[in-house]
Amino acid sequence: MKEFEIAVYGLGVMGSSLAKNLISKGFSTALFGKSQEERESFQAQGKFTVFSTEKALVNSLKRPRVIFLMVTAGNVVDFVIDSLLPLLDEGDILIDGGNSHFKDTQRRCHGLLEKGIQFLGVGVSGGEKGALTGPSMMVGGSKKAWDSCGYILERMAARVGEEYCCSFLGKEGAGHYVKMVHNGIEYAMLQLIADFYSFMKKGLGLSHQEITEIFTRWKHTELNSYLIDITAAVLAKKDGDGEPLVEKIRDFARQKGTGSWTLEEAIARGVYAPTISEAVFSRYFSQDTQLRKEGSQVLQVTIKPITLENYEKKLKDAFYLAMLVSYAQGIALIQKASADYGWEIDLPLAVSLWREGCIIRSELLQDITKALKESDKNILLSQSFGDLGKREQALRQISAKAIEAGVAVSTLLSVISYYDSCRTEKMNVNLVQALRDCFGAHTYERTDREGRFHTDWMEGED
Ligand code: 3PG
Repeated sequence: MKEFEIAVYGLGVMGSSLAKNLISKGFSTALFGKSQEERESFQAQGKFTVFSTEKALVNSLKRPRVIFLMVTAGNVVDFVIDSLLPLLDEGDILIDGGNSHFKDTQRRCHGLLEKGIQFLGVGVSGGEKGALTGPSMMVGGSKKAWDSCGYILERMAARVGEEYCCSFLGKEGAGHYVKMVHNGIEYAMLQLIADFYSFMKKGLGLSHQEITEIFTRWKHTELNSYLIDITAAVLAKKDGDGEPLVEKIRDFARQKGTGSWTLEEAIARGVYAPTISEAVFSRYFSQDTQLRKEGSQVLQVTIKPITLENYEKKLKDAFYLAMLVSYAQGIALIQKASADYGWEIDLPLAVSLWREGCIIRSELLQDITKALKESDKNILLSQSFGDLGKREQALRQISAKAIEAGVAVSTLLSVISYYDSCRTEKMNVNLVQALRDCFGAHTYERTDREGRFHTDWMEGED
């Protein structure tokens, strides 16, 4: 019987695409689909070997066996692992390519290692098309497993020249963590695009056609990125009646959860990520339709028409800075997590994996990778992005104009807040410390002396 090099377990949208990708790269690949429907759709195409029992699948593989799990993240992954375990031998490799929480990956790595099974948690980004033609793959877990089968993953991935957008980033959940943060940045950028769109429409009063043309022109500028590409296409799409389809979509955003996980981690690690935070909360807040409906009646404001000279150039400069700030927040989070969890993630390498194949790919990531190779400081401090001053001026003007016009663009405003916070040497929390000490005797430190101090702030007051 033929011995396959690798198996793909799960033939949903992403699993099917990854399986076809592997086969197109010349790897003999066995497939497993739980449902008859999944199996039949592949079998009908003739050239695939699809197994219907786990035993037959496992027995078809050469050793050490490599099984790529593409199943729904969560309990299903544990369930599938438990069903495969009795069939596996020491040294076999399981790869989880779903959007698993990094803590689950951590737990699975340790649990499986005790049973002699090597485990890789792989963050796969690029959607259905990317999975088929070459995704970005962020790998964590067992280094031994990576050394044994990493070449297969590399061959599946997108490339920049000769460099693969796939690499081992660290033990345990390091790969899934970097993918989670990738998604957090993705949430930020999606919401920023929406906020710029709102500002152009409600603030500047531009027509849908004018806005579409601006995003289309941005495709050929330094903003060149996948998300700008698809924004231009989405805005240009007309419904059957010739009207823009996007205008007919309900303003109620959902999520699968990786953006919220990123925010939870930002809080847990104490990393300031206001743009990711505003983007996550924008989705939650969009669901409070009743408040917004009543608020639009009760909280009416007088909107003054605004003008902004040379607006297209200013919008472009501001959006560039907004992208940079979104990446900066995500990168700072990865850096802190790597230190806290002891993963030793090579930051420029991790970021370089996003240059192709994934949803947040952009031209800007070339310069960001370069900046991180030169210094591990916050990328806003790097000289790699030229003079940020003129971009900051544009963003500041747009933020002020948005406030003046009364347009809700909290994610856009968070960018200037982050920028201003980063350049504030002396913050105002000295007053917070004094107040905490006043009402709760929490004590404070002084700028001129060592130690902790407490003052009776209300002495002599009633
Ligand atoms: C995914 O993981 O498929 C997306 O990148 C993020 O999904 P969401 O926006 O539904 O959370």
